[in-house]
Amino acid sequence: MFRLPTKLGLFLGLALALVQPAQAQMDPAPADPTLRPVLDEFGGVAGLTALMDDFMTILLDDPRMRPFFENADQVRIKRQLVEQFCVILGGDCTYSGRDMRSSHAGLGITRADFNALVEDLQIAMDRRGIPFRAQNKLLAKLAPMHREIVTE
Ligand code: HEM
Repeated sequence: MFRLPTKLGLFLGLALALVQPAQAQMDPAPADPTLRPVLDEFGGVAGLTALMDDFMTILLDDPRMRPFFENADQVRIKRQLVEQFCVILGGDCTYSGRDMRSSHAGLGITRADFNALVEDLQIAMDRRGIPFRAQNKLLAKLAPMHREIVTE
């Protein structure tokens, strides 16, 4: 007598799961080919590599950020960021890192932490003379990632 409702329930559950996958994953490196000229303004891959060296130094100098990065694999993070930003800016690169949710899970990152990191990235970009407009093109692509990075 309960056969039909159970089957119906199973079917509906499955259908819902298919329509709305639990916490759909964002693309960690959404490529935008129209931003290729912006990559040039960053100085290509060489410019991004130099930028990440400066960025990591600034992060480690910042008491708000140091606790997150001092014991992390800084070399790997810098390399993954170069790949990620290169792909986002339409470059001929491949992002080989993890998705943003798993990379940051368990770090207890707040919105204030996220904003502080963006502030430090802006300082690094300013110091390297990246034009303001180019900076903002990249930041606009990074901003939505807070949904997967901020957990607190
Ligand atoms: C838009 C902002 C951010 C981007 C694009 C970003 C990107 C990345 C990438 C590409 C990695 C390396 C993933 C891998 O190892 O495969 C990473 C790791 C990491 N990120 Fe972020 N991140 C952002 C924000 C933050 C914030 C706000 C914090 C902390 C305040 C943070 C702390 C870390 C740490 C500690 C790791 C290393 C984790 C580990 O090795 O297990 N990130 N991030």
